[in-house]
Amino acid sequence: KYQGIIFDLDGVICHTDRYHYLAWKALADRLGICFNEKINNRLRGVSRMESLEIILSNSGQIYTDTEKDKLANEKNENYRRSLAQMTPENLSPEVKGTLDFLRKSGCRLAIGSSSKNAGFILERIGLNGYFDAVVDGNQISHAKPDPEVFRCAARRLGLAPENCLVVEDALVGIEAAVRAGCDAAGMGDARKSSLAKYHLAAFSELKEVCG
Ligand code: G6P
Ligand code: MG
Repeated sequence: KYQGIIFDLDGVICHTDRYHYLAWKALADRLGICFNEKINNRLRGVSRMESLEIILSNSGQIYTDTEKDKLANEKNENYRRSLAQMTPENLSPEVKGTLDFLRKSGCRLAIGSSSKNAGFILERIGLNGYFDAVVDGNQISHAKPDPEVFRCAARRLGLAPENCLVVEDALVGIEAAVRAGCDAAGMGDARKSSLAKYHLAAFSELKEVCG
């Protein structure tokens, strides 16, 4: 049915969304700023600096650009310490089995992520070189909900967006997919999105959608 499937990374392929949360939480706690899982859901799919802006908007304080750069670096260093602990064990057999199944059934597979750490994560979980295309935060100038990342991924797969399905856990990611002209499957926080064509309770349900 779909010739290409474009996966978000954090919160879809692996649970690095948890590490993002913990690293932002540590920063917010140190600064005495309120931060919780609900606010965290607004950071899904959003770029690092935009995420920081959302957190700092609850501080009632003004920060200079230099201060913001320092805070973003502090969070990223903490986050990367968690990433460095990851191994291929952090890729679940369900996700790996489903990816292999989709590939065997003839789909081209891509990553479409806003993260600048995507390459490092794929390496840690043993998926370096696995995907037919990887488009991440280093190659795009507009993060989700802008459609750039998914348009670019479809192009890199050599496919029209309408022949691609995007799998996302972020509401802004579903919006980006639809704006790019792709169909979208929502999971996790984005499962209930009305813009999503499919609502996945488990990653392996993609076998029924695409098999
Ligand atoms: C993904 C995550 C966001 C994160 C963004 C940038 O889209 O869902 O939570 O802010 O990537 O990640 P980075 O690793 O570059 O800080
Ligand atoms: Mg995500």
